[in-house]
Amino acid sequence: MNRPDVIRTNTADLYDAHVLKNYGRPALTLVRGSGSVVWDDQGAQYLDFTSGIAVSALGHCHPYWVAAVQRQAGELIHVSNLFRNPNQGELAKRIVGYAGPGRVFFCNSGAEANEALLKLARLHGMKKAGGEEGKIYKVICAKNAFHGRTFGGMSATPQEKIQKGFRPLVPGFAFGELNNLASFEELVDDQTAAIFVETIQGEGGVNPATTEFLLGLRDLCNRRDLLLILDEVQCGVGRTGKFYAYEHAGVRPDAVGMAKGLGGGFPIGAIWVGEKSADLFQPGMHGTTFGGTPLACAAALAVLDVLERDQLMAHVAQASVAWIAALQSLAAEFPSQLLGVRGRGFIVGLQLTSDPAPYVATLRDAGLLVPSAGGNVIRLLPPLTATVEELARAVEIIRSVLVAKK
Ligand SMILES: Cc1ncc(COP(=O)(O)O)c(C=O)c1O
Repeated sequence: MNRPDVIRTNTADLYDAHVLKNYGRPALTLVRGSGSVVWDDQGAQYLDFTSGIAVSALGHCHPYWVAAVQRQAGELIHVSNLFRNPNQGELAKRIVGYAGPGRVFFCNSGAEANEALLKLARLHGMKKAGGEEGKIYKVICAKNAFHGRTFGGMSATPQEKIQKGFRPLVPGFAFGELNNLASFEELVDDQTAAIFVETIQGEGGVNPATTEFLLGLRDLCNRRDLLLILDEVQCGVGRTGKFYAYEHAGVRPDAVGMAKGLGGGFPIGAIWVGEKSADLFQPGMHGTTFGGTPLACAAALAVLDVLERDQLMAHVAQASVAWIAALQSLAAEFPSQLLGVRGRGFIVGLQLTSDPAPYVATLRDAGLLVPSAGGNVIRLLPPLTATVEELARAVEIIRSVLVAKK
């Protein structure tokens, strides 16, 4: 594999001088990637189980994806949504194929997908209220959720560290306990339009919604004429071994949001809206300049092609069994450091007994890149292409760090 040939020595200075300080980053500049591996500007190699926060579904620079994006970049990149382009219709059809009868809207990020979903909830409320605006508008979300940094997403994210400094927020949100159906039921009133939860909370610490809870929400939404909206921005697009994580529960939402892995590294977000609510958005009611460009859709189509051609969802489902078992053995071996393992497929959280930051740093030094999450959790988000050997290598590195910190 190639080593980086361009070494820029002033990157840190340029960041220090010119980039807004809204991120605390380690002193690490990544310059090249291939599959599950990335290299820094000093030539050091890392196993990348951050995957750009669950984005690089096919790993770095997958040849099929690169060829598709290069081909499309030489043909047509952007025309706006004032015109049709061939890739957007095709991608919408493929998403409908996974989600069921309905329609798709394309945007550029997870937060933007969620904004569209929250607007959908308001439109449903308005319809319920016989066309009257502002009467039925409330959305019930989960405590510990993360839905993005826009005002809508942030208002649906009841975390002090996310909301502090930005109040007043958008009104109309209430929060139940994940996996506590009664706490959601109690919050439903005559002003409620929708329930909006992550199928697996990612940033909140890899907390899966249980099958029982999701089925209970479905029933509650049916009884009270609420939309059941799922945020699969992080856990969707094959990451759990099925295209949508909710499929494991056998539940059907009314709408779902996705982004991250969909473009395999090219920014794209999407919402799927089921048939029942697909006509709530009428011409002029919502839009975006960049959403669903020929280039973004070509990238996403390439992701879906490889996902299907290489049966990556079956790979994730199979390979994750032994991998998660190996991680659970670590938890049994190092109980003073590791409380447990949560998640499904290739979205897994290791719950530590202490702050994950020193672990994330030591793992990085040992050659494994991982992000942390809320509740003292280290997240493991390998590309869906990660091999059994790479998964085992990650376990070895984690083990060596647990030994060193014992
Ligand atoms: C579940 C979930 N929803 C929404 C978002 C926001 O997505 P983006 O950062 O693309 O705006 C994220 C990002 O981490 C996420 O995990």
